[in-house]
Amino acid sequence: MHNIAVMPGDGTGPEVVREGLKVLAAAADRFGFEYQTTAYDFGGDRYLKTGETLPDAAVEELRGHDAIFLGAIGHPGVKPGILEQGILLKARFALDQYINLRPVKLYPGVDTPLKDKGPDDIDFVVVRENTEGLYVGSGGFLKKGTPDEVAIQESINTRKGVERCIRYAFDYAQKRNKDNKLTLCGKTNVLNYSQDLWMRAFTEAGADYPGITADYAHVDAICMWFVKNPEWFDVIVTDNIFGDIITDLGAMIQGGMGIAAGGNINPDGVSMFEPIGGSAPKYTGQNVINPLAAIAAVQMMLEFLGEDEAAAAVERGIMHVTSEKLPGMAVGKMGHSTSEIGDMVAARVRKD
Ligand code: IPM
Ligand code: MN
Repeated sequence: MHNIAVMPGDGTGPEVVREGLKVLAAAADRFGFEYQTTAYDFGGDRYLKTGETLPDAAVEELRGHDAIFLGAIGHPGVKPGILEQGILLKARFALDQYINLRPVKLYPGVDTPLKDKGPDDIDFVVVRENTEGLYVGSGGFLKKGTPDEVAIQESINTRKGVERCIRYAFDYAQKRNKDNKLTLCGKTNVLNYSQDLWMRAFTEAGADYPGITADYAHVDAICMWFVKNPEWFDVIVTDNIFGDIITDLGAMIQGGMGIAAGGNINPDGVSMFEPIGGSAPKYTGQNVINPLAAIAAVQMMLEFLGEDEAAAAVERGIMHVTSEKLPGMAVGKMGHSTSEIGDMVAARVRKD
């Protein structure tokens, strides 16, 4: 029995989560696994009513689940940063979800803005460190509000934190067994300390993986190559902020936010899966947003729960819909409503 915590969150989160759960139910029927869900209403509306983001007691409850399925966090009525830090980052940090795994895969039939590139060229995975770096909130102000003000924002990189992420990425590249290549994305030409540690940890860990080609590229060059030669990449490992930035670019070349999913993974604990596109408040309740990203998050969650056959069927369902049914991925271009797309994937998962 898989115990799944469901946090639909804000904006269009609940609509796409509903479709994800529809597909999950179809997969459970077809492949005969059992699961139960517990719903949590953390998000902007609850914050505005109660002042609560993600209380410690809730973190403890989440810890008791096998996985978390998250919709989106972000509310136009709440000052930016409060919900992101209070809910999303709090869950990632408190549950030690130290990997943010973001596949960048162009499915058949999906348009990429990259001319002359197709599904064979765009298929790589970014392993983003998810609990350290610039995201820890370390720093401070000096003489705030005066002309002599100083603002410091520190990037914290621990040997343990960096190494576990790098080793996860090497293991992942090995298991994926595609090009058996791992690229470290960094900025060693400028960031003398943090990137020096990353490079040493990468080189040393690489010695334990003779079957994996270890490569390096600067983050700015990676942005260029994602556009020019995405086929060069297999698995990429990088720190928290670089990973945040390059995966938005990755999402665009795979067809947009409507299709991009990610997993916040604690290999020894409870992991959280989400569409990475945000809450899209202006489309709330209109049944127009693309649920494929949330459905792809369910696929990742199933893989993580060990339901490999079900995960593969969900991916086939997504590809069936992208290749045969959808003229576009973006709002207004899909030719179908949110719930119709969920229905189509679910029907295919039940029977293909
Ligand atoms: C993401 C988001 C978050 C991040 C924000 C909402 C804090 O952009 O999941 O990539 O920066 O990690
Ligand atoms: Mn981001």
